[in-house]
Amino acid sequence: MESLKNNSVKSKVIGITGIAGMLGSHLSEQLIKANYTVKGIDNLSVGKLENLEKIINNEKFSLEINDGRNIDALRKIFKDCNTIIHLAAVKKVVENQSSFETLDVNVKITQNVLEIAKEKNINVIMASTSDVYGVSEEIPFKENQNLKIGDSTAKRWAYAVSKLYCEHLCISYCKDFDVKVCILRYFGGFSDKSSFTWSGGHVPIFINQILNGDPITIHGDGKQTRSMGHADDLAYGTFLAMINIDKVNGEIINIGNTEEFSVIDTAYLLADILKKGKNDIKIEFIPEEKVYGTYKDLRRRVPDISKARRLLGYEPKISFKQALELVAASIKEKKNK
Ligand SMILES: NC(=O)c1ccc[n+]([C@@H]2O[C@H](COP(=O)([O-])OP(=O)(O)OC[C@H]3O[C@@H](n4cnc5c(N)ncnc54)[C@H](O)[C@@H]3O)[C@@H](O)[C@H]2O)c1
Repeated sequence: MESLKNNSVKSKVIGITGIAGMLGSHLSEQLIKANYTVKGIDNLSVGKLENLEKIINNEKFSLEINDGRNIDALRKIFKDCNTIIHLAAVKKVVENQSSFETLDVNVKITQNVLEIAKEKNINVIMASTSDVYGVSEEIPFKENQNLKIGDSTAKRWAYAVSKLYCEHLCISYCKDFDVKVCILRYFGGFSDKSSFTWSGGHVPIFINQILNGDPITIHGDGKQTRSMGHADDLAYGTFLAMINIDKVNGEIINIGNTEEFSVIDTAYLLADILKKGKNDIKIEFIPEEKVYGTYKDLRRRVPDISKARRLLGYEPKISFKQALELVAASIKEKKNK
């Protein structure tokens, strides 16, 4: 991406938490290509070294395999960084899992990152999520609207609430301690580096199921819509926030694709891309309450990205259909190796 080369950041050393995950690996590739030095940490609980294979031997890249809750490890890696891009998190939790790690990891690493940023005068870009809009029906979601969070007994809310608390922590460090921070609320991204568990979203799971000849598992009736984008677009939006930190300091910005597709149409579109007829695929509907307890999945989740356009000049470059084609082709190729 051409404009990655024309940056105005003084220091070219960037720290990334959760670097071996989907977004971290795409962003690292973009930064290395643009001549930045990248220093990352990941405990490989979800992320994989394979995601970093294109850059792992690059002299401008270094990786510490460690838990981000260990503040001394973070301090050591990030001491010379200009910016920390904080991506490490434990994502969506379903009812039969523990919500403890989601709450503990998300909050502790964010506080560690902000403390180090305060000590060393480092800028922070923090990954938040569209989940914080909760069950709001004001579509498209705008950064300054009220958020409507559900019942605390449904574990699925732990992720949104942890990220919301982290947003508040960021705002506090920004206003109370002068740390430059920008919060990005990402809307569903995917790539061939996504996790094939539910934390990676429905697209990679469906591709995998279609390629394996397994039933496509859909939560609820599948008519719920999502606005999903390619990880490279989300990574590029992150880069723009990093180089424009003085303009977006203290801001919360939606980053994502505005195209809206239902989950079931996405399954059919993928079957078509992978050259399977409607009769060649089987769909298994799983009742939502079985997966989420009392949590109700959102019917629609669409971002308003006018703020990202205005402040960052952000525009997604890869359409949803192109992203599906790219990712399906790449996962198929990897499987056939
Ligand atoms: N991908 C999306 O669609 C999306 C949407 C909204 C928000 N986000 C947010 O963006 C960020 C990146 O998302 P992603 O899709 O790349 O997720 P991911 O799960 O692929 O990456 C997160 C990384 O954090 C690492 N990690 C988890 N716990 C850790 C710990 N204790 N110490 C060190 N590393 C740890 C994991 O191993 C993983 O590599 C996350 O904060 C996520 O909440 C992503």
